[in-house]
Amino acid sequence: MQKKIDEIEKSIDDAVKDVQSSKTLQEIKMRFLGKTGEISSLMKNLRDVPPEERPSVGKLLNALRQWTEEKFAAIETRIKDFELKKKYADEKIDVTLPGRVAGDGAYHPNTLIRDELISVFAGMGFEVFEGPEIENDYYNFTALNTPADHPARDMQDTFYLAKDLLLRTQTSAGQIRVMENKKPPIKILSPGKVYRSDDDATHSPMFSQMEGLVVDKGITLCDLKGMLDEFARKIFGDGVKTRLRPSYFPFTEPSVEVDVSCFECGGKGCRLCKGTGWIEVLGAGMVNRRVLEGCGIDPDIYTGFAFGMGIERIAMLKFGINNMKLLFEGDVRFLKQFKG
Ligand code: PHE
Repeated sequence: MQKKIDEIEKSIDDAVKDVQSSKTLQEIKMRFLGKTGEISSLMKNLRDVPPEERPSVGKLLNALRQWTEEKFAAIETRIKDFELKKKYADEKIDVTLPGRVAGDGAYHPNTLIRDELISVFAGMGFEVFEGPEIENDYYNFTALNTPADHPARDMQDTFYLAKDLLLRTQTSAGQIRVMENKKPPIKILSPGKVYRSDDDATHSPMFSQMEGLVVDKGITLCDLKGMLDEFARKIFGDGVKTRLRPSYFPFTEPSVEVDVSCFECGGKGCRLCKGTGWIEVLGAGMVNRRVLEGCGIDPDIYTGFAFGMGIERIAMLKFGINNMKLLFEGDVRFLKQFKG
């Protein structure tokens, strides 16, 4: 038996002599100590040894097993240590390599104008309300005094998602949601995206609007005019005036188109104002009494005005952007030119 043990010890020594990786070491370990390994088999054969020799042979085998286990443990520690060092060496990072510089982004002109409008109107006591972009027919049209057969529906080519579900064509839809839920005095500003099935050099199927709504006792068209004058001065510069022209919207009566005096030529006439001295900037009017009634507000007690403007249009005018498509490309070289 001692001879056999010496042999095994020698073959273990041979086997582990050049071992480099823990994987090979594990394989060798299995060969001797695994369930069917050489040492385990010897242990199993112990029952064939004559009973009087069993204790001494058993002792030898146990010593062998312990010797083997310790040997493997020692080699394993050495290999693990070596492998870790190698891993660190391989993963070494060269901290002297210059970093990649991430370019700065920039605020979109729409964002700049939206924030500026909010700050101007917040200064006049308006609160911001954001309505949903997916609306139903009632909020986008019917409640705005635009029933199904109303010709004004043709003014706004609508994207329908389902029979009664659409992408809002105007932020005016939010007016109804506010008036249904809040009693006057109401003074809200409602920015957001709107959608119309329209796509050419000057129209995009998605654009942004800023809506305003004021409802209280004794509100008149003069209040609208006064507020618009303040808006025009703050956004386009001191000395800019406004003028109202008659217009039509189903949900306002009377309705007006609002022009500002040309801030480029001071009203003398130039290319920007096409020689007229005036630039159209928004639609507005006194809230139609039918709209108030539909929201449970008594039109004999309360009156109000509403206005709505295209944010892209204001941005183009204010920043002198001559091509609307630039606002939809997100090219940072373009965006970086504008500051609020
Ligand atoms: N909703 C109108 C449009 O999109 C603008 C508007 C808003 C007009 C509020 C009057 C009052 O054209």
